[in-house]
Amino acid sequence: MTTEIVIVDPEKIESSENDIKNAAEIIKSGGLVAFPTETVYGLGGDGTNPDAARKIYSAKGRPSDNPLIIHIANPSDAEKYTFTNETYYKLAERFMPGPLTVVMKAKDSVPKETRGGLDTVAVRCPSHPVAHRLIELSDRPIAAPSANLSGSPSPTSAHHVIDDMQGRVDMIIDGGDCEIGLESTIVKLEDDGSLLLLRPGRITLSELACVAQISVADAVTDRLREGEVALSPGMKYRHYAPSAPLVLLDGELSCVIEYIKSKKHEKAAILCYTDDKIRVAENLPDADIYVLGARDNINEQAHHLFSILRDADKQSYDIIYAPLPSMDGVGLALYNRMIRAAAHTVIKLRQE
Ligand code: TXA
Ligand code: MG
Repeated sequence: MTTEIVIVDPEKIESSENDIKNAAEIIKSGGLVAFPTETVYGLGGDGTNPDAARKIYSAKGRPSDNPLIIHIANPSDAEKYTFTNETYYKLAERFMPGPLTVVMKAKDSVPKETRGGLDTVAVRCPSHPVAHRLIELSDRPIAAPSANLSGSPSPTSAHHVIDDMQGRVDMIIDGGDCEIGLESTIVKLEDDGSLLLLRPGRITLSELACVAQISVADAVTDRLREGEVALSPGMKYRHYAPSAPLVLLDGELSCVIEYIKSKKHEKAAILCYTDDKIRVAENLPDADIYVLGARDNINEQAHHLFSILRDADKQSYDIIYAPLPSMDGVGLALYNRMIRAAAHTVIKLRQE
């Protein structure tokens, strides 16, 4: 399959109306279009067409029991596809359009294929102007997982999508880098109006707690126990794991440096904060350094993480070290992605 690549400036989408119209026609006729959102790039198809869902699973190499999020242009469009309640509208008022996905009981208008056979469906109303216009012109919900091959980090720029999806989709819309860089926050809306956090993201637990009672699914921070059923099918699959082992280090910078020195690795990569770069470079001159962002700027770290992991994966490191993020605020999202990429390998380092 040839993949058409079009560049759209998110700040001047009017000048690319024809390209977005063409993309919408592809969606309407059952094809696939990768497009930018404020979180990560999505791999979109018609959310009401079972064949489009099958094509998405096949393009990603994703198991077909791992359901897709449907993307809508306006929060009230959720009525067509789900049974909403008052809490949904409170969430919508505060966080939509934006990086929040809400799982609710599905209506029959969403085919089983799109929802991976579940009786619920995940709904998100993205704020990215290209995503919004594409959904509007398609005149149907767009089912879209992240536009990466299953097992690689979510794409945060068009070249990541091109690396993974060229030849597998009809069109890729290059809208530049995604602002947030981590996937949306996912909550399940329970019948009593309370929420269950399934995947942390830019919208934080405390922001959500201002709207409704919320608890956190164990799998957000823990491994699933043997025999445990995943509330969100995505939780049970092995997520992105770099080809070199990723080890999270929890401790003062001096301890981190001493620890890495003592290991005498041939080829190590170190993810560090901007604030620590000079000290790390001086003390570990043989290691490759990747800067996540300022220590106190979690949004900046989130924005860079997946891109760094992709870059590091292209080198054949013996090992990759990264600092263990805090679980506060957006830190919980970073923690959740990193702990999974590291297969829960955390080393606690304490000052003697
Ligand atoms: O930011 C995002 O959410 C991006 C952009 C493209 O919108 N999309 C995204 O989709 O991250 P995906 O498919 O890569 O991750 C969605 C997760 C999966 O882990 C899936 O198992 C879960 O959401 N999910 C989808 N529908 C669900 C449902 N009905 N119940 C529980 N979990 C669901
Ligand atoms: Mg994904």
